[in-house]
Amino acid sequence: MKILLTGANGQVGWELSRSLAALGDVVALKREQCDLNKPSLLPGLVREVEPDVIVNGAAYTAVDQAETNELEAMRINAESVEVLAREAKRLNALFVHYSTDYVFDGKKSTPYTETDTVCPINVYGRSKLEGEKGVARVAGDYLIFRTSWVYASRGRNFLRTIIKLAYEREEIHVVSDQFGAPTWARDIANTTRIAVSQYLYEKRLGEFHSGIYNLTSSGMTSWYGFAKYILERYEQFGDKKDTLKFRDIKPIPSCSYPTPAARPEFSSLNVEKLERWLKVSMPSWEEACDLCVKEFLSESN
Ligand SMILES: NC(=O)c1ccc[n+]([C@@H]2O[C@H](COP(=O)([O-])OP(=O)(O)OC[C@H]3O[C@@H](n4cnc5c(N)ncnc54)[C@H](OP(=O)(O)O)[C@@H]3O)[C@@H](O)[C@H]2O)c1
Repeated sequence: MKILLTGANGQVGWELSRSLAALGDVVALKREQCDLNKPSLLPGLVREVEPDVIVNGAAYTAVDQAETNELEAMRINAESVEVLAREAKRLNALFVHYSTDYVFDGKKSTPYTETDTVCPINVYGRSKLEGEKGVARVAGDYLIFRTSWVYASRGRNFLRTIIKLAYEREEIHVVSDQFGAPTWARDIANTTRIAVSQYLYEKRLGEFHSGIYNLTSSGMTSWYGFAKYILERYEQFGDKKDTLKFRDIKPIPSCSYPTPAARPEFSSLNVEKLERWLKVSMPSWEEACDLCVKEFLSESN
């Protein structure tokens, strides 16, 4: 089986290039080799590879920059996504795509299910929602995984930023009134591998149904809760207390940390549909964070 992977250098993409290798040949393309900012080039690329599965790990993920760069965000997160989905359908291939908790406005107080009303409050969320709609319009075989607060031991992410700040500042202030589920890129990639295997099985039986699935860790916290947990574990697992500058971490309201893009206050996603389908249990965000911090420590030693 041949799998075409885009965004191979991203947090999720990098993990996918490793985990999907268990299923077949992975043609893993980075931005330089497959640029979603150039939608017209995509059909040629896909037709050259002729994959059985396309996994789109690439995305415009700069949430704040998207506010002033809407055209590019839409081209990468919506227009090109639809082009890739159409190419997948032409080949009778599965299209796997990732979306976000930011398709919701955050006004709910219980975890969002896949059928809850979407209402993005920033450009990034709108561009990702347009991507979802494009994939559904093409109506081939597809899986859209909505995930949230992605981190890894490599790449640009909150976990690495907080650890870096702990070496630079005595006091760290973190927003405590936005709630969601931090999700390790490795769990996203491993769950994707299980889902693709399940697709192959159901496809053979003629029983596969395309759809949207929430794919996050279980449980929820605030950015403040996440930051505090990361630093506690980093100190504990790495015996780092004496080497860090940081002495205190303080919760602050979002209004004290204004950003160009508005963020939903509450964006926890209910993962029961995914767990039922794949017969898996998503790890708690704490369990996943422990493993990632340990990996980060072992890689930086
Ligand atoms: N990060 C989060 O917190 C989060 C939350 C919810 C949903 N998601 C979704 O999860 C998926 C994976 O995100 P991630 O966390 O892995 O993001 P990431 O680490 O920012 O990776 C995104 C990848 O896309 C690539 N890319 C950007 N523009 C591109 C273009 N024009 N053509 C081709 N590739 C391009 C980037 O290339 P470079 O390496 O060259 O920059 C990067 O490798 C995305 O669909 C994202 O929307 C992410």
